[in-house]
Amino acid sequence: AQHNNNEPYRPVFHFTPKSGWMNDPNGMVYYNGIYHLFFQYNPDSTVWGPMHWGHAVSKDLVHWKELPIALYPDSLGTIFSGSAVIDVNNTAGFGSDAMVAIFTQHNPELEKNGSDKFQNQSIAFSLNGGKSWTKYKGNPVIKNPGIRDFRDPKVSWYAPAKKWIMTLATLDHITFYASTDLKHWQKESTFGKGSGAHGGVWECPDLFPLTYKGRQVWVLIVNVNPGGPNGGSATQYFTGTFDGHQFKADDLQTKWLDYGPDEYAGVTWSNTGETKLFIGWMSNWEYAQVVPTKSWRSATTTPRELSLERIDNQYLIASKPVKAIDDLKGQTKILTNLVVNGSLDLTQSAKMDKGIFQLDLKAIKPADFAIELSNDQGDMVAIGYDKSRNVYYIDRTQSGLTAFSKNFAGKHTAPRFAKNDIINLKLLVDKASVELFADDGLTTMTSIIFPHAPLNKIKINTTQKNLAIKKVKLKRLE
Ligand code: FRU
Repeated sequence: AQHNNNEPYRPVFHFTPKSGWMNDPNGMVYYNGIYHLFFQYNPDSTVWGPMHWGHAVSKDLVHWKELPIALYPDSLGTIFSGSAVIDVNNTAGFGSDAMVAIFTQHNPELEKNGSDKFQNQSIAFSLNGGKSWTKYKGNPVIKNPGIRDFRDPKVSWYAPAKKWIMTLATLDHITFYASTDLKHWQKESTFGKGSGAHGGVWECPDLFPLTYKGRQVWVLIVNVNPGGPNGGSATQYFTGTFDGHQFKADDLQTKWLDYGPDEYAGVTWSNTGETKLFIGWMSNWEYAQVVPTKSWRSATTTPRELSLERIDNQYLIASKPVKAIDDLKGQTKILTNLVVNGSLDLTQSAKMDKGIFQLDLKAIKPADFAIELSNDQGDMVAIGYDKSRNVYYIDRTQSGLTAFSKNFAGKHTAPRFAKNDIINLKLLVDKASVELFADDGLTTMTSIIFPHAPLNKIKINTTQKNLAIKKVKLKRLE
């Protein structure tokens, strides 16, 4: 069992702050066997307000321990999103192996006074593995040139030129900066006007290489709000090249890392070597501040490992839940060689009565099917595939509490990219969320839900004749 609790929507295997408001995960860094998760945090309210960096740590990315607040607002402003690095070579001179946070300071006074220069970049360092922090005296390290949205610095070490690269969201494009000491930065280039989705402001970027069959491919993540594929805020990405100065995209097509409504502001951990671990905020700016939780608001997504696939001459990111999820022990039920006509009720055989589980399913040449999760209160969530449109979907129209926002109820769809006719799905269901990883993560969808009671009934529905399910594996995660 994970940290058990009686709050109806408090997740079991996702991180939530004990109280207060959380949005973006930020500053994630791996150090000395510990995964650090910092996050946009307002300790004094369950809606957005003066931002701090909250802090949590984990050894496996699944069991989290919340620590005291890491960064507090100061005279330069509140603490918006950013990143953290381990300064292995002591380039900044703060000390060897200093953990350095690079973040936006948002100054509401300046904003009120009509200035456009209310977001500036600052740094802070910790010499005790993130326990206590000192803000750099020379802050801000990048002054705003007069762009209202100028934020969310993601810094990484670019080894070939022995310098730091900062990827910064600047309104409707990305600006790259470089530095040798984390204190002095020079502008290198820009990217993005005319590329990708521009339904809203660009925020929370990330830049890193992945390898595909021995070849290095650069990935640029750009979160955008609004303008997502199913409304509101969402994470898009580009693949291309980066030469230490400039990012060039392979194509102009918009690609989405997660098609569901509830993954936003996702970026990756730093200092994890070749492995790229991603985590998002499991909500959407359309309704995040009115969801029906009481003492806190928002959770993070399941952490995901990213890799590249190549389909139809383009690179696509595949997201898989981190291995620690698969390693969790829990009562498991495996059913094989099922043939479904109409509906097959798995409730009695599977006994997932708390509605918190992992489901792995393999369907052979399906025309359509849905995994229907429900309860005695009439709540229902359907996660399915429709071959005629070649889409996956999550339908939360009747998922329980939905009336808190007109933008919440709905059936959300995502394209299928995989070409084979066997479908492998992985579903992670927590108390208040459903995450779908189809085709080994080539299509990913995240949806939050607020059922009146646990979704303790499981059915597989289909309209086709003799739907062949090779295997269903269910594992309790409560
Ligand atoms: C994204 C975002 C960031 C900003 C932070 C403020 O959700 O708007 O751009 O730094 O939230 O909390």
